[in-house]
Amino acid sequence: MTGPSLRQKDSHSLIHRAIVSEIEEATVIVEKLIGSEQIEGLKLLLEIWKEKVVRHADEEERGLFPEILTANPSMSEKLEKLSSQHEQLRSLLKNAESIVLKLTLEPKDSSFSYRLTQYINEGLDVNKKMISILKQHFEDEENTLWEYQ
Ligand SMILES: [Fe+2]
Repeated sequence: MTGPSLRQKDSHSLIHRAIVSEIEEATVIVEKLIGSEQIEGLKLLLEIWKEKVVRHADEEERGLFPEILTANPSMSEKLEKLSSQHEQLRSLLKNAESIVLKLTLEPKDSSFSYRLTQYINEGLDVNKKMISILKQHFEDEENTLWEYQ
Protein backbone atom coordinates (compact mmCIF):
# COMPACT_ATOMS: atom_id res chain seq x y z
CA MET A 1 0.00 0.00 0.00
CA THR A 2 1.44 3.34 -1.01
CA GLY A 3 0.77 6.57 0.86
CA PRO A 4 -0.54 9.56 -1.11
CA SER A 5 2.73 11.46 -0.64
CA LEU A 6 4.58 8.93 -2.81
CA ARG A 7 1.83 8.77 -5.45
CA GLN A 8 1.79 12.49 -6.15
CA LYS A 9 4.66 13.90 -8.12
CA ASP A 10 4.96 17.17 -6.18
CA SER A 11 5.00 15.65 -2.72
CA HIS A 12 7.23 12.79 -3.86
CA SER A 13 9.70 15.31 -5.30
CA LEU A 14 9.64 17.27 -2.02
CA ILE A 15 10.56 14.08 -0.16
CA HIS A 16 13.51 13.66 -2.56
CA ARG A 17 14.68 17.25 -1.98
CA ALA A 18 14.44 16.83 1.80
CA ILE A 19 16.46 13.59 1.73
CA VAL A 20 19.22 15.10 -0.43
CA SER A 21 19.42 18.23 1.79
CA GLU A 22 19.64 16.20 4.96
CA ILE A 23 22.43 14.02 3.56
CA GLU A 24 24.38 16.96 2.12
CA GLU A 25 24.11 18.94 5.36
CA ALA A 26 25.23 15.94 7.43
CA THR A 27 28.14 15.39 5.01
CA VAL A 28 29.39 18.97 5.51
CA ILE A 29 29.30 18.45 9.29
CA VAL A 30 31.14 15.10 9.13
CA GLU A 31 33.83 16.59 6.88
CA LYS A 32 34.56 19.21 9.54
CA LEU A 33 34.84 16.76 12.45
CA ILE A 34 38.15 15.28 13.52
CA GLY A 35 39.40 12.10 15.19
CA SER A 36 36.97 9.73 16.85
CA GLU A 37 34.14 12.28 16.53
CA GLN A 38 34.43 11.86 12.79
CA ILE A 39 33.90 8.10 13.11
CA GLU A 40 30.72 8.75 15.10
CA GLY A 41 29.65 11.37 12.56
CA LEU A 42 30.18 8.98 9.67
CA LYS A 43 28.15 6.30 11.48
CA LEU A 44 25.29 8.76 11.91
CA LEU A 45 25.52 9.78 8.27
CA LEU A 46 25.24 6.14 7.19
CA GLU A 47 22.25 5.74 9.52
CA ILE A 48 20.55 8.59 7.63
CA TRP A 49 21.18 6.71 4.37
CA LYS A 50 19.60 3.61 5.85
CA GLU A 51 16.67 5.35 7.52
CA LYS A 52 15.81 7.69 4.68
CA VAL A 53 17.10 6.37 1.36
CA VAL A 54 16.87 2.60 1.83
CA ARG A 55 13.51 2.96 3.56
CA HIS A 56 12.19 5.18 0.75
CA ALA A 57 13.42 2.66 -1.84
CA ASP A 58 11.85 -0.25 0.08
CA GLU A 59 8.52 1.58 0.24
CA GLU A 60 8.58 2.25 -3.49
CA GLU A 61 9.43 -1.35 -4.34
CA ARG A 62 6.73 -2.70 -2.04
CA GLY A 63 3.98 -0.28 -3.00
CA LEU A 64 4.34 2.35 -5.70
CA PHE A 65 6.29 0.36 -8.30
CA PRO A 66 3.96 -2.68 -8.25
CA GLU A 67 0.95 -0.31 -8.46
CA ILE A 68 2.43 1.42 -11.51
CA LEU A 69 3.31 -1.92 -13.09
CA THR A 70 -0.22 -3.20 -12.61
CA ALA A 71 -1.68 -0.04 -14.14
CA ASN A 72 0.81 -0.04 -17.00
CA PRO A 73 2.83 -3.21 -17.72
CA SER A 74 4.88 -1.40 -20.38
CA MET A 75 6.66 0.44 -17.52
CA SER A 76 8.37 -2.81 -16.55
CA GLU A 77 11.81 -2.04 -17.99
CA LYS A 78 11.91 1.48 -16.56
CA LEU A 79 10.89 0.26 -13.11
CA GLU A 80 13.56 -2.42 -13.25
CA LYS A 81 16.16 0.23 -14.04
CA LEU A 82 15.02 2.31 -11.05
CA SER A 83 15.10 -0.76 -8.80
CA SER A 84 18.61 -1.59 -9.95
CA GLN A 85 19.69 1.94 -8.99
CA HIS A 86 18.21 1.24 -5.53
CA GLU A 87 20.24 -1.95 -5.42
CA GLN A 88 23.41 -0.09 -6.38
CA LEU A 89 22.85 2.35 -3.49
CA ARG A 90 22.17 -0.49 -1.02
CA SER A 91 25.39 -2.18 -2.07
CA LEU A 92 27.49 1.01 -1.79
CA LEU A 93 25.99 1.63 1.64
CA LYS A 94 27.13 -1.84 2.70
CA ASN A 95 30.66 -0.98 1.49
CA ALA A 96 30.65 2.22 3.53
CA GLU A 97 29.35 0.35 6.59
CA SER A 98 32.09 -2.25 6.27
CA ILE A 99 34.72 0.53 6.12
CA VAL A 100 33.37 1.94 9.40
CA LEU A 101 33.31 -1.54 10.93
CA LYS A 102 36.95 -2.16 9.91
CA LEU A 103 37.85 1.17 11.46
CA THR A 104 36.21 0.40 14.78
CA LEU A 105 38.09 -2.94 14.92
CA GLU A 106 41.51 -1.38 14.26
CA PRO A 107 43.96 -1.47 17.17
CA LYS A 108 44.52 1.96 18.73
CA ASP A 109 48.29 1.86 18.21
CA SER A 110 50.67 4.58 17.02
CA SER A 111 49.57 4.42 13.38
CA PHE A 112 45.86 4.51 14.20
CA SER A 113 45.33 8.17 13.36
CA TYR A 114 46.91 7.62 9.92
CA ARG A 115 44.61 4.68 9.20
CA LEU A 116 41.66 6.59 10.60
CA THR A 117 42.21 9.38 8.07
CA GLN A 118 42.49 6.84 5.27
CA TYR A 119 39.33 4.96 6.20
CA ILE A 120 37.34 8.13 6.79
CA ASN A 121 38.38 9.44 3.39
CA GLU A 122 37.39 6.12 1.83
CA GLY A 123 34.01 6.28 3.58
CA LEU A 124 33.45 9.87 2.51
CA ASP A 125 34.36 8.98 -1.08
CA VAL A 126 31.69 6.26 -1.08
CA ASN A 127 29.25 8.77 0.41
CA LYS A 128 30.07 11.25 -2.37
CA LYS A 129 29.52 8.57 -5.01
CA MET A 130 26.18 7.62 -3.41
CA ILE A 131 25.06 11.26 -3.41
CA SER A 132 25.76 11.60 -7.11
CA ILE A 133 23.93 8.32 -7.92
CA LEU A 134 21.05 9.37 -5.65
CA LYS A 135 20.59 12.73 -7.37
CA GLN A 136 20.57 11.11 -10.81
CA HIS A 137 18.23 8.41 -9.55
CA PHE A 138 15.75 10.91 -8.10
CA GLU A 139 15.80 12.85 -11.34
CA ASP A 140 15.17 9.62 -13.29
CA GLU A 141 12.28 8.74 -10.97
CA GLU A 142 10.70 12.15 -11.32
CA ASN A 143 10.99 11.95 -15.11
CA THR A 144 9.68 8.39 -15.29
CA LEU A 145 7.10 7.50 -12.66
CA TRP A 146 4.34 9.84 -13.79
CA GLU A 147 4.60 9.02 -17.46
CA TYR A 148 1.89 6.42 -17.14
CA GLN A 149 -0.77 8.82 -15.84
FE1 LIG B 1 11.42 8.22 -4.79
